[in-house]
Amino acid sequence: LAVLSVASEAVPLVKTGGLADVAGALPGALAQHGVEMTTLLPGYPAVMAGIKRAKVLHTYDSLLGQPARLIAGKLGAQPLIVLDAPAFFDRQGGLYTDPQARDWADNWRRFAALGRAAADLAGGLVKGRRFDLVHAHDWQAAMALAYLRFAPVKGSKSVPSVMTIHNMAFQGYYPKETFRELGLPRSAWSMTGVEYHGGVGMLKAGMEAASVITTVSPTYADEIRSPEFGMGLEGLVASRGDRVRGIVNGIDSADWNPASDPHIASPFTERTLARRTANKRALEAEFGLEPGDGPLFIVVSRLTWQKGMDVLVEVLDHLAGIGGRLALLGSGDAALVAGLQEGAARHPGKIAVRIGYDEALSHRMQAGGDAILVPSRFEPCGLTQLYALAYGCVPVVARTGGLADTVIDANLAARAAGVATGFQFNGVNYHALAAAITRANALYYQPGEWKTLQRNGMKADFSWTNSGAAYAGLYRELVGKA
Ligand code: ADP
Ligand code: GLC
Repeated sequence: LAVLSVASEAVPLVKTGGLADVAGALPGALAQHGVEMTTLLPGYPAVMAGIKRAKVLHTYDSLLGQPARLIAGKLGAQPLIVLDAPAFFDRQGGLYTDPQARDWADNWRRFAALGRAAADLAGGLVKGRRFDLVHAHDWQAAMALAYLRFAPVKGSKSVPSVMTIHNMAFQGYYPKETFRELGLPRSAWSMTGVEYHGGVGMLKAGMEAASVITTVSPTYADEIRSPEFGMGLEGLVASRGDRVRGIVNGIDSADWNPASDPHIASPFTERTLARRTANKRALEAEFGLEPGDGPLFIVVSRLTWQKGMDVLVEVLDHLAGIGGRLALLGSGDAALVAGLQEGAARHPGKIAVRIGYDEALSHRMQAGGDAILVPSRFEPCGLTQLYALAYGCVPVVARTGGLADTVIDANLAARAAGVATGFQFNGVNYHALAAAITRANALYYQPGEWKTLQRNGMKADFSWTNSGAAYAGLYRELVGKA
């Protein structure tokens, strides 16, 4: 089975968040299930630098107005096709934003071009490369499915498609005027096509066109049927009924394994938890925290409203007041950065923040922290709590989306049954988060109970085994029907 996966980022080449982890791991996970997944990525500078012995598969004189080429490469061990369009992707700055952190003004054209190229590939543009199904990730890839539906390559046979929503908050919504530049027929401008509230809705168009919509946890799949989480698209989600599924993300156990992680000083397993102490001491030193007996909390996060970082700022005094310490790594909103830095200044030696993006440090934090705080207002899946589980760093999470699905709260019943892995709290506000931190702090001083939480988490299987099988099953179901 040959699947074309279309994404705007994928590890190890480019990453701004969890989407890259998932798009990067999926092809390897599916190979075991007899699926050959080719990934299509934009040719950002980091991607172009990462492909060796590139072979040109196709040259466009004009792809949505600009010259472009399709180039073959490798994503890890799996096939990759890069859309090399320097006018769109050869830029300094972020993948989606300029150096001043404003969205690139032509994002609609950049990612429509990615979609057009995907639809061309699926339609047989390149000899010898055939695809049975197209899998699009998030709004940046969604136009692939709109082009397949409304403007397929002439004479090509239609293929089924999957639209995965990693985050409903980003929908790729653009003014009406962009429509005539997209190269779609007039028939696409309809309520069940790409039109959305008088403009172009890219995620919406992908959701309308997809054979099946998936999102990255069962709870989020439910939540997006309601206005609070559906962000305007709840009606469309509800109307697709059982064509909306939730498949929880896995983690790449080669990258995230505490027994063999090259980034950490003292590797460990659930049988050698005492070896974590060396990682904790190293982390305290790295962040300039006082070494202590109390729990060391960590946060690794985008600093945004979604992640509840404003509530974290409010709770810093409480955390330090009960004897906790916090090491935080993140980047994002300036006001949140300022609030966190003020908290650190009020509690030197107890709270320390590192602003920036640092993959290796994130590993050292999971390996040395006692507990990770994830107070997200919504969380389609969440990966940091999964890495934490694998590393014996106990998750303290808001009960939403994938966080609700992957962490088992240490209530009396779960502890009696021996299955608890962390702490959940209801509602993202000062009182709920402070209470959860207090609960975690109290249990930390019962070392036997705490070790059980750590071991339960480390033994839980969040590898791609199950989720890979679920995607492979879905593809087979759709291709079988087509
Ligand atoms: P989201 O994709 O919404 O940001 P996820 O939890 O799914 O949330 O994925 C976030 C990914 O980005 C994880 O791999 C996490 O470790 C990583 N990450 C987030 N912020 C940083 C940072 N400042 N430095 C290093 N890694 C980070
Ligand atoms: C998005 C979501 C996050 C999810 C990730 C990968 O960034 O915010 O919850 O884990 O995608 O699916």
